Amino acid sequence: MSSLEIKKLHKNFSNYHAIRGVDLQIEKGEFTVFVGPSGCGKSTLLRLIAGLEVVTSGSILLNDQDITDTSAAERDLAMVFQSYALYPHMSVAENMSFALKIAKVDPKIIAEKVADAAEILQLTSLLDRKPKALSGGQRQRVAIGRAIVRQPSVFLFDEPLSNLDASLRVQMRQELSGLHKRLKSTMIYVTHDQVEAMTLADKVVILNAGNVEQVGTPLNVYYNPASRFVAEFIGTPKMSFIPMSDDIKKLIANEYDGADPRKLTSSTWLGVRPESVTLSSQLLTKAGLTGKVSLVERLGAETLVYIDYLGEHKITARADSLASIEAGADIQFSIDFQNVHGFDDDGLRLSPDVTDNLIVGNV
Ligand SMILES: Nc1ncnc2c1ncn2[C@@H]1O[C@H](COP(=O)(O)OP(=O)(O)O)[C@@H](O)[C@H]1O
Ligand SMILES: [Mg+2]
Repeated sequence: MSSLEIKKLHKNFSNYHAIRGVDLQIEKGEFTVFVGPSGCGKSTLLRLIAGLEVVTSGSILLNDQDITDTSAAERDLAMVFQSYALYPHMSVAENMSFALKIAKVDPKIIAEKVADAAEILQLTSLLDRKPKALSGGQRQRVAIGRAIVRQPSVFLFDEPLSNLDASLRVQMRQELSGLHKRLKSTMIYVTHDQVEAMTLADKVVILNAGNVEQVGTPLNVYYNPASRFVAEFIGTPKMSFIPMSDDIKKLIANEYDGADPRKLTSSTWLGVRPESVTLSSQLLTKAGLTGKVSLVERLGAETLVYIDYLGEHKITARADSLASIEAGADIQFSIDFQNVHGFDDDGLRLSPDVTDNLIVGNV
């Protein structure tokens, strides 16, 4: 198990500043996920760690040793790519053992390691097959197996599940989580999928245009998003943003008896998650706001209702599976102001953290 430290890291591609001063500490055995929209620098950051890109400035330390100028081969890290990058002419076993063979490891030890990894990844019966005779999920397992046999100090994954269909992605995600528990290795995982980030990570690193926007546990970034960017990126359906209106100011004053401990009324924007919106069939309830239903999406287990509030602003709400709501209708709703976030003009959150220490309670 290894720790990794990144200090003031910058990367320029000729005149494009892709990584803009990243500081990051990754602890031993931690599963860290880099998440952010396409083009924000996730792969570049991972490739800098792997030694596949040259650092422009700053440093990378592995177990307190500076590896900034060490070659990729000498870093003792193993990377798994979205494209699998298997050798087509080699069998599964040969693909998995190739790096060890090059390193002149004793063939007996290689055989043991390959057998162990194949066992973990349910590839034992496929060891003689060529990649072209494997499904996407099996190929991805071989790519992971190739990393496992090397027993690297850190595993690096770059969107390893993005080429798989939805159900296989869920299955592989659960397998990767199990793999981390079993190997207890330090793992860094890149994805644009916030659900993967939420479900896999001990620590989520949210990147935005080459900067770290926030670092935290999945629940912490969900409940205490530092910025509008994070608030919008984490959580599905997305958080809605509505401008502070006089109606809402009055409701907040009522709810808090004139005080405003959550600094909502000094905010320009309120961030409202679907779970904080309650739809009401009764007109003019105490906390009533009115809007127009613009779209109803029936997902089976629940129904998503999109409400136009103050003209162009949309609020997403959840309703019961069979709720009789139709697009075009006027609708009353209330907002739980204990659970919304206030943001200023620059997108910074003004509301204090919901709680400093989120603990999952008993059921
Ligand atoms: N070799 C390269 N040359 C020039 N620009 C690059 C190169 N690699 C990446 N970039 C640019 O750097 C930015 C970050 O890319 P990348 O790290 O691949 O994003 P992500 O993995 O988050 O989608 C993108 O704008 C991309 O176009
Ligand atoms: Mg990428």
